[in-house]
Amino acid sequence: MKIAVLKERAAGETRVAATPETVKKLAALGASLAVEEGAGEAASISDAAYAEAGAEVGPVAKVVADADMVMGVQAPDVAALSGAKPGAWVAATFDPFGQRERVDAYAKAGFEALSLEFMPRITRAQSMDVLSSQSNLAGYKAVIAAADQYGRAFPMMMTAAGTVSAAKVFVMGVGVAGLQAIATAKRLGAQVSATDVRPETAEQIKSLGGKPVFAEGLEASGEGGYAAELTDEQKAAQAEMVTNHIAKQDIVITTALIPGRAAPRLVSDAQIASMKQGSVIFDLAVAQGGNVEGSVPDQLVEKHGVTIMGFSNTPAHLPADSSALFSRNLFNFLNAFWDKEANKPVLDEEIGNAIRLTRGGEVVNPRLSEAS
Ligand code: NAI
Repeated sequence: MKIAVLKERAAGETRVAATPETVKKLAALGASLAVEEGAGEAASISDAAYAEAGAEVGPVAKVVADADMVMGVQAPDVAALSGAKPGAWVAATFDPFGQRERVDAYAKAGFEALSLEFMPRITRAQSMDVLSSQSNLAGYKAVIAAADQYGRAFPMMMTAAGTVSAAKVFVMGVGVAGLQAIATAKRLGAQVSATDVRPETAEQIKSLGGKPVFAEGLEASGEGGYAAELTDEQKAAQAEMVTNHIAKQDIVITTALIPGRAAPRLVSDAQIASMKQGSVIFDLAVAQGGNVEGSVPDQLVEKHGVTIMGFSNTPAHLPADSSALFSRNLFNFLNAFWDKEANKPVLDEEIGNAIRLTRGGEVVNPRLSEAS
């Protein structure tokens, strides 16, 4: 089985879907690996390191030629796949709801698209879950970037010249990214509070040393451990809680997402205006529509003396670690299903049906049929 690893084509994408470590491990399973020249450059991995690990390194046409499978961080447009075997698998993130035309193009071209962000949130798939591994790093980076932007220190410091008070950090949305944001802000010495709409997160916040701040009686747990959309009444209750709390905060990190929908709006312009001058808001959901009014991907927006920021691709700001974890997720996925006799992975129904978007010229994923 030939596996091709492409250099990412999306603007600002610095990650790569395989590292020399996973190349070696995949080769040990019996695969032959081909890596496009320069694929790891932005993640500090040289072509020589891939070659040393056993991969053939070359131009895209050669790498894709006769490939049984292509691995990517973000799915390439089908044009980059010409020469791959008919029906070849492409394992990558597809943004299936946002980039529906690309999914249709994969079906038309006869490739089998495997969308890694549709990996089910079940125990045995945890080690294959790219959303978790990337969100974890993103939660860390959001705090570090906000701290860098903030004109004051995070920890309390008692110095001969007087005391520096601890920064107050408020984390909104306590999924994987939010939990890591709480942990990172605590490590930096901040006073941390956090909120969510899933009540079970209150204990998780406390266990990391943060203070849960919840709108009374608010509960919007959806399917599969995700949040559901709030009713208008719930939104009003949450807005009131945020208004009361946010004016006292120095740093706000928002991470709230609802699967298949635009990110919920959590912070209004009036709430921003109530904050102290010099405060910083990092909107981790900015690429999905934003939790914060006025946030713009990859721009520092100044409003009412508050800086609002957010990256269009936060894991891409930590390319070496995000590539290492993404690649291991992919390896864990292929390894779990590797069939020695067939010398290729053979997926089971639960995971195969969840992540497969296209097959035999058709879009086959139920989540996409429901959405269209
Ligand atoms: P996510 O990225 O979909 O959302 C981030 C957070 O925003 C969630 O905690 C969500 O409840 C919250 N949120 C949504 N709307 C909100 C609102 N209006 N106000 C405040 N907060 C709001 O979530 P993520 O990080 O993907 O985690 C979702 C769940 O999946 C969690 O329960 C997590 O523990 C679980 N999980 C399970 C895994 C497994 O078993 N394999 C792997 C990773 C996560």
